[in-house]
Amino acid sequence: MRQTLAFDIYGTLIDPQRIAETLEAWIGEQAPALARAWREKQLEYTFRRGLMGAYADFDVCTEQALQYCCAAQGITLSAEQEAELLERYRPLPAFDDAAPALEALRAAGHRLFAFSNGTAETVSGLLRQAELDTYFADMVCVDEIGRFKPDPVVYRHFLQRANVPVTEAWLISGNPFDVIGAQAVGMQTVWLDRPGQGLFDPWGVEPAATIQRLAELPTLEGVAPHGQT
Ligand code: 2OP
Repeated sequence: MRQTLAFDIYGTLIDPQRIAETLEAWIGEQAPALARAWREKQLEYTFRRGLMGAYADFDVCTEQALQYCCAAQGITLSAEQEAELLERYRPLPAFDDAAPALEALRAAGHRLFAFSNGTAETVSGLLRQAELDTYFADMVCVDEIGRFKPDPVVYRHFLQRANVPVTEAWLISGNPFDVIGAQAVGMQTVWLDRPGQGLFDPWGVEPAATIQRLAELPTLEGVAPHGQT
């Protein structure tokens, strides 16, 4: 059965940790830790802004998170380095399993959407650079409504934009907060546990499926709505 599949972007199709490669030239072995802290702080800023009702877009959260993490770790970047880093955050590379999985799912007749906390401008550039843009029927980004996932309003906005009943809509995400958010409004969810550690928030929520590689996704073809297989 044809499904509507919403793909989270950062951490699911696109690898934010690869920014460490740029950082390495400047700060050596501190790079992976800074990249990880940066990503965590970026997400924290979206959550906090969401709670406060003080939306500032994902690019702003990304920039402010970088500044905070550098200060916290005693790392000084020049204004040029900071600008270059933010520029390089725009064409981050895709995980190598993304294109083949999207290709197979589209060929199977599913409707694919990019669904991100990022801005439409940044995400469209990101997907174009990663050569993933052509797989999607459309893109739904939160700057359309000025809220962030996992606010339920965002998932309902997706359902409305994709014009799909909740029981026929899937979220595929590497981010547990996103999986839990989508499940809370009744969407079907697939958690992409790339590290394979099973580290999921113990909130009593079970994704319909857990996979380690996107290559496992095309088997979704056989997964019916309502989680029946
Ligand atoms: C997204 O792309 C932030 O990973 C999250 O929506």
